Amino acid sequence: MKPKAVFICQNCGFQSPKWLGRCSSCGEWNTLIEEIEEEMTAEYSFPPSEPVLYQDIKEFKKPRIKVKIEEFNKVLGGGVVIGSLVLIGGEPGIGKSTLLLQVSRDFASQEEKVLYVSGEESLEQIKLRGDRLGVRGGKLYLLAETNLERILAQAQKIMPQILVVDSVQTIFSSKLASSPGTISQVREVANRVFRFAKSNQVSSFLIGHITKEGSLAGPKSLEHMVDVVLLFEGERDHSHRVLRALKNRFGPVSELAIFEMAAGGLQAISNPSAFFLKERPANEAGSVVVSTIKGTRPLLVEIQSLISSTLFTSNPRRMSVGLDHFRAAMLLAIVEKKLGYSFSGEDIYLNVAGGLVIEEPATDLGVILAAVSCLKNRPVPSGMVTFGEVGLSGEIRSVGQALPRVKEAVSLGFETIILPQGNIALLEKEDLPGVRLVGVKNIKEATDKVF
Ligand code: TYD
Ligand code: MG
Repeated sequence: MKPKAVFICQNCGFQSPKWLGRCSSCGEWNTLIEEIEEEMTAEYSFPPSEPVLYQDIKEFKKPRIKVKIEEFNKVLGGGVVIGSLVLIGGEPGIGKSTLLLQVSRDFASQEEKVLYVSGEESLEQIKLRGDRLGVRGGKLYLLAETNLERILAQAQKIMPQILVVDSVQTIFSSKLASSPGTISQVREVANRVFRFAKSNQVSSFLIGHITKEGSLAGPKSLEHMVDVVLLFEGERDHSHRVLRALKNRFGPVSELAIFEMAAGGLQAISNPSAFFLKERPANEAGSVVVSTIKGTRPLLVEIQSLISSTLFTSNPRRMSVGLDHFRAAMLLAIVEKKLGYSFSGEDIYLNVAGGLVIEEPATDLGVILAAVSCLKNRPVPSGMVTFGEVGLSGEIRSVGQALPRVKEAVSLGFETIILPQGNIALLEKEDLPGVRLVGVKNIKEATDKVF
């Protein structure tokens, strides 16, 4: 049979028999690339399965291997499950290779055999980085190779406990005609590595590049094929990186770890709140500390606001960085309506310090207090933290996980917490010495009590 050409959207995987300028599934332009449709040679080499009675199924024990980087274990749900396939996605240059080389170093130093395959860098380049990261031998094997069949043959020979493939976009199978990085190739690579991992009980990591929009050939289209998807995010001009699980067949997806890129590689930050607050200006108007929840953990961050008279009288600026734009606009409208301020001649800038993104409604009250503090040119008392969701009539609604939020603030030495009245009742039973809890019902009451 003559191989059939298909056009595959490199953004969403949509297939079309003819070329289209615009993908009719996801609407992206110029994403369809011609690939050869391979014949489906299903492999019947593995034994057929039999139905089993529910009660006869053995309990699934998930043996895991841990590394020294405790934060990394946590995100995986307590270490990497033996024989699982983990996909780590992130923008180019964010530190994926660095992280996995550090992880490989740790596995190797605890007598695990590791095979680190790179299709991007030469062995010398990897060694140069490894020396900076303090790699000291152990059973860490490096392989510079881009051909999938050769990689798997080597892996079969060495039979490591850990396999790292850096990156899925640079590896190609000679069974397919399309070039590396196309949807069919990355799927083939992921699929074959997955089968290798399962049949040999080798814990495997696949690195995948993704762009800011989260698209580009592949990692997105691989999510359903792997056991765990981790995302490594951060801003290039900030040193911190956030690692979080997007999918985890063996653990929670809410865990997140924060690392700092330093000269000696990535350093886990064990106290993220202190890290994000360390450069907070003292006694400045427009700065408020909020207690938010990131993943499963509380995190204290600073929200800043700047209000200045506009040059664009008909269309003043509304900018927010790290916050939901529409929600911020809504909160400013509530301040105008309920507190009687007018922003019509003002440019308003809101910012989450440190380049973090927080989407939680529990930061509403913090945003409002930051704006009002700036308007009044009066700093919020230092030692004060806040959280609470704000509704359209200015009412302050209670939020989940109030106790961990309060405890985090207490552990960093904050003395006063402005929080929803509705959350107070539950907290009063708790033993929280040295902290004053101030419950508020609406934003009028909140601003009166703060200023
Ligand atoms: P890298 O791991 O190569 O990114 P990725 O694999 O995601 O493309 O990391 C690249 C950046 O990290 C690079 O700009 C240099 C920086 N870096 C450090 O700051 N310190 C270090 O010790 C290392 C190894 C890298
Ligand atoms: Mg890399």
